[in-house]
Amino acid sequence: MAKPVLLVTRKLPEAIQARAARDYDARLNPDDAMWSQDGAEIARRAKEAGAAGILGAAGDKLDAACIEALPDSVKIITTFSVGFDHIALDAAQARGIAVTNTPDVLSFATAECAFTLLLMAARRAGEGERMVRAGKWEGWAPTQLLGVTLEGKRLGILGMGRIGRELAAMARGFRMEIHYRDVQPLPPEMEGGAIYHADDAGFLGAIDILSMHIPGGEATRKWLNAERLARMKPGSIVINSGRGTTVDDEALIASLKSGHTRAAGLDVYDGEPRVNPGYLGLENVALLPHLGSATIETRDAMGRRCLENLDAVLLHGTAPPHRVV
Ligand code: DGY
Repeated sequence: MAKPVLLVTRKLPEAIQARAARDYDARLNPDDAMWSQDGAEIARRAKEAGAAGILGAAGDKLDAACIEALPDSVKIITTFSVGFDHIALDAAQARGIAVTNTPDVLSFATAECAFTLLLMAARRAGEGERMVRAGKWEGWAPTQLLGVTLEGKRLGILGMGRIGRELAAMARGFRMEIHYRDVQPLPPEMEGGAIYHADDAGFLGAIDILSMHIPGGEATRKWLNAERLARMKPGSIVINSGRGTTVDDEALIASLKSGHTRAAGLDVYDGEPRVNPGYLGLENVALLPHLGSATIETRDAMGRRCLENLDAVLLHGTAPPHRVV
């Protein structure tokens, strides 16, 4: 029997590509780069290949126009990411195309990345590194590049899902006090002593550091705006490793410039890979290029999750284990 045609939009870890090529008629993208900034090229290639499945990734614009243009042969879109705000779910549902993602396996790595940013922002690590590389370091000095310690600080986690809970576990090791805001409190056995806030104002006023772990999309667009930043204590720190769309960049840049926000750490950007140029000249912001899940182990595990979903639908005719719609 002919193998199902699988369109793979991005270069994946070698073992994952090899496994895809073994069990599917896989049409691979040899490059890290996207085929196109809009979804038209993905739809064109899916049509040309007669694809049964599409293995895409964050950044691919699988918008309504793309999904409506896919051939009827497409049964499943699996994304190499936990986030799915780049996929028009309604359009997929209307066409009976299953959409799946890669939950759980990237939670620890993404929390590690948030914690990296937290340490960079609190301890001015980026500034220090730039000083050394520029040959501007003139030796140890008692008042040079003083940051703030994490011990005893109140960490506010916005979105206490899997990644937020991993971050809370790490922060406890640094003797931080954990606060969180979500639509509802966690069951006590999952809270681990973290303090729930039922409203934004109380949450933002209570914390020293905000770490954002909410999904992208219209409902959360520019959640962190000037008004919410003003509610935070002077000298607080902001970390975002969720989605860039959740931050009003102009408001955060103004707050960083005034010093109301002491420092920020960002891994994600509205309109990435474009980064608001206002951040680039600021010393008090650490900027990473969407590295959240970027570990060898995690990317392999994400690839295996994608294959589990594809295999279920295309090889076994069963329900995919990580279905979004
Ligand atoms: C995710 O999985 O959603 C990460 O942000 C990587 O895209």
